[in-house]
Amino acid sequence: MENHLQSVKYKRGEYFQVLDQLKVPHELVYRDIKSVEDAVDAIKRMQVRGAPLIAIVGCFGIAIELGKEIVQIDDKTQLLSYIREKIQALIDARPTAVNMRKEGLRLIDFLEEKAKSRDNVSILKTDVLVWIEDLYKLDLETNKASCAIGKHGAEAILQKYRKNSEGKINVLTICNTGSLATSGYGTALGVIRALHGNGDLNQVYFTETRPYNQGSRLTAFELLVDKIPSTLICDSAVSWLMKNHDISAVIVGADRVVKNGDTANKIGTYQLAIAAKAHGVGFYVAAPFSSIDPTISTGDQIVIEERPGTEVTQIGTRVWNPAFDVTPANLITGIITEIGVFTPEELFVKLDN
Ligand code: MRU
Repeated sequence: MENHLQSVKYKRGEYFQVLDQLKVPHELVYRDIKSVEDAVDAIKRMQVRGAPLIAIVGCFGIAIELGKEIVQIDDKTQLLSYIREKIQALIDARPTAVNMRKEGLRLIDFLEEKAKSRDNVSILKTDVLVWIEDLYKLDLETNKASCAIGKHGAEAILQKYRKNSEGKINVLTICNTGSLATSGYGTALGVIRALHGNGDLNQVYFTETRPYNQGSRLTAFELLVDKIPSTLICDSAVSWLMKNHDISAVIVGADRVVKNGDTANKIGTYQLAIAAKAHGVGFYVAAPFSSIDPTISTGDQIVIEERPGTEVTQIGTRVWNPAFDVTPANLITGIITEIGVFTPEELFVKLDN
């Protein structure tokens, strides 16, 4: 389970660097992140992207500022208001993905709890650093630990869609959900890696994913490095692909899965789900529990980030450029998590208990 592309490099009190994903695959260049402001900038500019990675980068932005003692914080009240303010700026950088919000609020809770019994601000700062470093390790484990998402997803899809014991399957994915979007193995791409690793994958088709081309640049690169048989298609070719090729399942990532199973993911995901339904193709969302938001009951309440029109055109025409869409739960066959695969209804019951 090699992590071929290291998306972040961090050493406490020394450095924090992110792989500039705007330059991949042509160049592998790391940007030095020296502050939370730098982290917010890298997230907004899409130098780093993907829901789990955004949370890691945001938290490491705080860690590098604290670890290098860039800001002067003299007591625990100052530390708490500093953390609250920085977390809010990081959440606002890209509002649709829930991971930064969830981890940020967990960090605030953790610090508030610690501060009840501790006055020494340098010990509290170290507590925060350790918490953030553990978050990174945990994310790596979630991804890697027996590659749980990959394993559960591959099993569920093969069980339902493999035509015979020898038959290999074709699948379709969108955007980039691999080691570049997480701290390790990947979510939807993790399932695809597992299918390939077990010899069950004939071909993965993947969309170019305009306007940032996370598919044709980033996923293409990861698939080539791993030598996974793959074919790139234009975003507009998905229905025609399903009509003409034997596609068993669509496997996508998630920026936020809400309580009823409605799922926000890269713009274009919703139309994949509609096309899948029309062609009898399975539609799976692969997401760790860190991307599940039980505080929101339906997808209507998810804030969808709208990005500048200049990302799409330079000639002054009017543009609507939503970065994500919401796939309704009734189009989702299964939600693949690190603890198993659930239908949206099953997930709802689980979140309720
Ligand atoms: O705009 P992006 O590139 O951040 O969008 C990424 C996606 O939509 C991914 O599918 C999602 O974040 C899951 S990544 C494991």
